[in-house]
Amino acid sequence: MLRFGVLAGGGGTNLQAIIDRMEAGGLPDAELSFVLSDKADAYALERAKKHGIKQIVVDRKALGERFDEELIKAIESESPDLIVLAGLMIMIPVELCRRYANRIINIHPSLIPSFCGKGYYGLRVHEAVLKRGVKVTGATVHFVDEIYDNGPIIIQKAVSIKNGDTPEILQRRVMEEAEWQILPEAIKLISEGRVQVSEGIASVVPAE
Ligand code: GRF
Repeated sequence: MLRFGVLAGGGGTNLQAIIDRMEAGGLPDAELSFVLSDKADAYALERAKKHGIKQIVVDRKALGERFDEELIKAIESESPDLIVLAGLMIMIPVELCRRYANRIINIHPSLIPSFCGKGYYGLRVHEAVLKRGVKVTGATVHFVDEIYDNGPIIIQKAVSIKNGDTPEILQRRVMEEAEWQILPEAIKLISEGRVQVSEGIASVVPAE
């Protein structure tokens, strides 16, 4: 059984997608052991509470410079097999990236390496996509390393741009058609031991 924790800072719709998949029996080899947020009022924590999942707050504002240290402590005390980043707007401490090499995954709302890296988060990603006029965008689940949005790519899913799209409309479509599907899917593949990383490339082993 893969024991994992979700780190979420916002609305937690990706967390909800994971919970829904679990409750539908779609993640039989994985157990969600905690939800951690850097904000006490993150709605993601409410969602966790509703489903009886342990909630942990590591308050970034209150902790200031001690945040990284306390975050590491909180995670170490849970010792998860996998950490899932779903909307936590922070740079993961280097120490944590090293200790959990290829055991931290992130969801990014574009097809990496387009529209990613520093400054590309939330609606800004979709604004930039529309401004550039690309015809296809999507979402990416990747392992986290020490460089922003850089680690091995596990799954990507493409989403079409449509006439009349606004950043808000596009954000919603990318979530519905891509993010909420590929994040639970990546957890499933990892829980089945089907994701391998070699020389910076992740590959998925076909089901037997
Ligand atoms: C998502 O767009 C995700 O791709 C990004 O942050 C957002 C989180 O949304 N990393 P939610 O909190 O899961 O609703």
